[in-house]
Amino acid sequence: MRIHIITYGCQMNVYDSRMVASLFKGEGVEETDNPEDADIIIVNTCSVREHAERRALGRISSLQKLRREKPELVLVVIGCMAERLGDNIPGADFFIGPRKYDRLPETIREIVSSKQYAVSSPSGIVTLLNSSASTGQVTFHPIRYRYRVNGINRQYAVGSMRVGATSRLRKPPHPYPEPDRGVTAFLPVMRGCDNFCSYCIVPYVRGKAVSRNPEDILDELRYLKERGVREVALLGQSVNEYRYGETPFRQLLRMVDKESSGVRIRFLTSHPAYMNDELIEAIAECNSVCESVHLPLQSGSDRILQLMERRYSVDEYRHWIRRLRDRIENIAITTDIIVGFPTETEEDFKKTLDIVRKTRFDFAYMFMYSRREGTKAAGFSDGVSLEVKKGRLERLIALQNGITREKNGELVGKEVEILIEGKSRREGLPMGKTRTGKEVIIKMQSEKCKVRNVKMGECVNVYVESISGWTLIGKTLE
Ligand code: SAH
Ligand code: SF4
Ligand code: F3S
Repeated sequence: MRIHIITYGCQMNVYDSRMVASLFKGEGVEETDNPEDADIIIVNTCSVREHAERRALGRISSLQKLRREKPELVLVVIGCMAERLGDNIPGADFFIGPRKYDRLPETIREIVSSKQYAVSSPSGIVTLLNSSASTGQVTFHPIRYRYRVNGINRQYAVGSMRVGATSRLRKPPHPYPEPDRGVTAFLPVMRGCDNFCSYCIVPYVRGKAVSRNPEDILDELRYLKERGVREVALLGQSVNEYRYGETPFRQLLRMVDKESSGVRIRFLTSHPAYMNDELIEAIAECNSVCESVHLPLQSGSDRILQLMERRYSVDEYRHWIRRLRDRIENIAITTDIIVGFPTETEEDFKKTLDIVRKTRFDFAYMFMYSRREGTKAAGFSDGVSLEVKKGRLERLIALQNGITREKNGELVGKEVEILIEGKSRREGLPMGKTRTGKEVIIKMQSEKCKVRNVKMGECVNVYVESISGWTLIGKTLE
């Protein structure tokens, strides 16, 4: 039996997909890259913007062809959209959202056993009950479940069944998912979010904020190191809000730094309302913690920030940028910005452009506001037309992209340390990132300098020679 996993959304989803793969592995199910070879397909979804949901729904709908050709195929929808829409998503057999992930091992066992049954007896539930009842091994579970009759028709039932004989309670190979992104990996330190920014669906689909025990985090860090990981990104929706008992985030960073033995540490996403000087001190002092902070601004207008319920002013935001830049030399600061929030005027938007111009972010993710049913802002009357939103987004992107290019260009002629993490897309040349998260491609045939071969996971010093688009091109130094 094999699974194929399709992932949308944020880093947390990328991690969760690995977790699911590892749980299936524990049940004896291997992964395949090819959906056509799969017996079970998992679609891990995102709800943050309408566009993200539309993409996942489109994919689920295009998988129906495979499902018709192969009636025994099981399609499972997980992630934030499964939480939000549940069984209102057409064309899938199982749904499980992040708030119920503590039941993932059990659900996966259900899926595997129902699947084993579906193959052995395509005549449906009656046969299942009869044949299994005769061995006395049917157990019911109070979850909602779809099943097939005659291999094709799908009916809906409350309660699911597990066939005892086929449900071997195997243990996963390891409590932590295996890293599969080469030398870099994600490590969630907290889940959920209680901030309820007025536009955001995440608190509804991910549940309340829960921080992980630091001992458990350190244990997973050691596990990743043993498997050759050289860079770990600590994840949380509002990661600087982490607190486990008496341990705040700054202390967790120091503990992780001590345990890191040279592995690079990143963390995201930081919320401006939870910044503090002690945390900045910890980032500055911990050698393995990279000089890079992702600090979403969202808007440059205090009025809009208030409507967004972000709990900081533009001045406070700028204060933290100054503190970070004063204390940490060459720190890279990246951000997220939303344009077209309900009632945003041209004047509000110009304030966003103004702070973007003044702050000179290294990089920004820029979005058009997307109304999310059930959030507070969904009740605000919009008043910004799609055309205006599009126009603002274009202007913002043009401004920031120019800044991103200039900021990257500042590295030309400088020496930087990069961690080799893969190959460039076009030419297959070794590619790595600086501690500040900028991509550098190593040119192999440098005219004068003989370039030595570099290995994945190696930290090398590179002289940046030029920039092409945004990408920096360099040569190794010996
Ligand atoms: N927890 C993180 C990430 C949240 S989602 C944080 O607080 O920053 C990532 C980004 O998506 C957000 O920072 C925000 O800029 C954007 N976003 C969230 N909800 C949105 C919505 N309804 N419409 C448009 N962009 C949104
Ligand atoms: Fe959403 Fe705000 Fe939480 Fe980020 S901090 S996940 S934007 S509610
Ligand atoms: Fe999307 Fe859920 Fe992440 S809504 S951004 S996948 S937390």
